Amino acid sequence: MSAAPVILSIEGIGKNFGGFHALSQVDLQVADRSVHALIGPNGAGKSTLLNVVSGHLAPSAGQVLFRGRPICGRPPHETARRGVARSFQITSIFSGFTVFENVQMALLAQHGLCTRMFRSAAPMKRDEAFALLQLVRLDGAADRIAGQLAAGDRKRLEFAIAMAGTPAVMLLDEPTAGMSPDERAIVIGLIRKINQERGVAVLFTEHDIEMVFAIADRITVLHQGSCIADGAPEAGSPRFQCNK
Ligand SMILES: Nc1ncnc2c1ncn2[C@@H]1O[C@H](COP(=O)(O)OP(=O)(O)O)[C@@H](O)[C@H]1O
Ligand SMILES: [Mg+2]
Repeated sequence: MSAAPVILSIEGIGKNFGGFHALSQVDLQVADRSVHALIGPNGAGKSTLLNVVSGHLAPSAGQVLFRGRPICGRPPHETARRGVARSFQITSIFSGFTVFENVQMALLAQHGLCTRMFRSAAPMKRDEAFALLQLVRLDGAADRIAGQLAAGDRKRLEFAIAMAGTPAVMLLDEPTAGMSPDERAIVIGLIRKINQERGVAVLFTEHDIEMVFAIADRITVLHQGSCIADGAPEAGSPRFQCNK
């Protein structure tokens, strides 16, 4: 592990579904401001692990620390509010509203203002909303109806909405699934940008190994619910430390 401080520490996590051990003794540390990939075959337990971290599933064993404090057992919205966002599951785009309004509503919701003040909300959080649209390069589409966006632009909007919560960590489960190569490139670029410009640590699962090597600072391999390797990609190939 590098000397960078750890923002997310997954310690001895186990998860049983009935008698089936989906996760066993998983240890994984995400360094602050890093991009960390979680790879492994289908059924390895990647989504289950992200669900445990986000609070969507309670672990059968172990704990997860965010900035040194336990977050397991908290409801997902509370974990998100603390700064651990599972972006594609906690955000929903309002397809009848404009791109700008979607980001503005996400910002207002963060401040508990959304429903109460929506009628007079037009001038509120404008600068912040535009800054987020610039971050994801959607500022040119601010007035477009969100429901009419192409898939790549929709992903950008989802990122902007997720960023409205100023997360410190983003959990992304196969963010490029079902996308064309062009759309994948957009998402890869955005993840890197959000990480570099906003300092958000990212823990993501991905099948596309090329994408993993393009952006990950560290890679952990899960197999049948156990962590079997962990390391930094170097010169095009991972230098893994085998745990087992
Ligand atoms: N809610 C559940 N109930 C029972 N088994 C589950 C449940 N969720 C996941 N599993 C099982 O746990 C294993 C890991 O699943 P998952 O975390 O989705 O793997 P991955 O994301 O790596 O493909 C799989 O065998 C899957 O069938
Ligand atoms: Mg999965």
